[in-house]
Amino acid sequence: MEMSNNERRLLSALQSEMDREWNLSALLTTCEWSDQAHVAGAGLSLAEKGLVQIDERKSTVFSLGPEGEAAHQDGLLEKRLWNWLASQDDGGRSMRDLQASGVAAKHEYGPGVGLLKGLGCELIQGSFELPDDSKAAESAIEARTAFVAACAEGANAEDLDAEMLAMFQKRKGLIEPTESVSRTWSLTMDGRALTSDELSERMQVVEITPDFLQGEDWRGADFKAYDVNLEAPTPAGGRSHPMQALIERIRSIFLEMGFDEIEGDFVTTAGWNMDALFIPQDHPAREMQDTFYLSNPSSISIDEKHLQDWAEIHEHGGETGSTGWGGQYSKDESQKGLLRTHTTVNTVRYLAETPDEPCRVFGIGRVFRKESIDRTHLPEFHQIEGIIMEPGASLPMLVTTLKTFYEKMGYPEVRVRPAYFPYTEPSLEVEVKWRGQWLELGGAGIFRPEVTEPLGCKWPVCAWGMGLERLAMLVLGLDDIRQLYISDLEWLRDQPLL
Ligand code: PHE
Repeated sequence: MEMSNNERRLLSALQSEMDREWNLSALLTTCEWSDQAHVAGAGLSLAEKGLVQIDERKSTVFSLGPEGEAAHQDGLLEKRLWNWLASQDDGGRSMRDLQASGVAAKHEYGPGVGLLKGLGCELIQGSFELPDDSKAAESAIEARTAFVAACAEGANAEDLDAEMLAMFQKRKGLIEPTESVSRTWSLTMDGRALTSDELSERMQVVEITPDFLQGEDWRGADFKAYDVNLEAPTPAGGRSHPMQALIERIRSIFLEMGFDEIEGDFVTTAGWNMDALFIPQDHPAREMQDTFYLSNPSSISIDEKHLQDWAEIHEHGGETGSTGWGGQYSKDESQKGLLRTHTTVNTVRYLAETPDEPCRVFGIGRVFRKESIDRTHLPEFHQIEGIIMEPGASLPMLVTTLKTFYEKMGYPEVRVRPAYFPYTEPSLEVEVKWRGQWLELGGAGIFRPEVTEPLGCKWPVCAWGMGLERLAMLVLGLDDIRQLYISDLEWLRDQPLL
């Protein structure tokens, strides 16, 4: 049977007097313990094993109330009054003199007279007369004084005189009851049967060290069972920020799906960020309130060939059969410096560099928009962007790719809905189901010819871009996007490993 050393020690103590019912203090002394939790703990598990029987007795213990404490110090009221009366000559025991004597407080004289009468005194025309048998009164007072002294130590109701107890309970503030449970421990039949051999305390090994294993002591030792379900402190070592960890995970999913990673600069031009994507130059999103335009560099030059291509596309659709947006295309507008508003600029630039090589690429990067900060918006956030360009690239391929990605992230329910972007046709919104709700996580589509022709792309291009912080909110269960960036150490420590 598995037993701790405390249990063994408690059993040995109980076996030293097989038939005894042991109380707490006897066990503490015999076991040489000072902590009663040892007796309680070991006793309880021995009781569960059927080796020890615990009996509980509820009892009422009386101790002194505030009045009782005073009586214990200065004497009971009847004692003080009696002593004064006894010290006076016959005929000189007037109520008036008693009240002037100061042996009791003002409010005590009323009840005091009642007590004296109870002891056989009489009050005749303002004067007290002692009873014939003053011995009986004195011994009653003595008994009451002893009762108070007993309660000062805390007395068990059973040990007190019932009549006296009833009398004292009627008097206010003298004694107070407290309910207490006292336990005794004794051996069961099985407990008696254990041999002293089984009860000898064993070395208990909590930690295994190489030195210990190389010696011989381990042979006779008990190994403390290792409980993998116990609470353990979480080591607060350094670790990746949850956003970084999430980026790593997304990165490995796309790499695993056969994509290459690309990067790009925060600073770019309106031309690459918007014109190349056939976003009209008077599009509302280009205005100052949405985009951070730079004063330095306020303009970045773009290859004349690109500017010319975009001008033709925007003004009349170039060779694509599109009518374009019409109006006058501005090359100055195109060369304005800005902070990229989406990572689609990276994939477009990538296509411009290698338009005739099939590709599957992705990038995760920071983007900037003039947003006011609130629960769901930040002016700087991240996007996960990707494209597939190859013969036969199609809408079903795009949807399957996104579904596969979200499934690998742990969100198997994905749906797409029709949407609009100036640079894709058809266009989609991607939604995933989270806690029973559909949440929009990004946009996708097939790049329009107005985008791909001027770049020289040979094949159709599937493209998508989605918000990283939105996804992080799902993964981490947040309802406030700002939590991700306030560096709250306690929160950071509590985040799951992603
Ligand atoms: N750029 C879009 C956005 O910022 C997302 C998108 C990327 C949509 C690629 C279609 C194709 O929301």
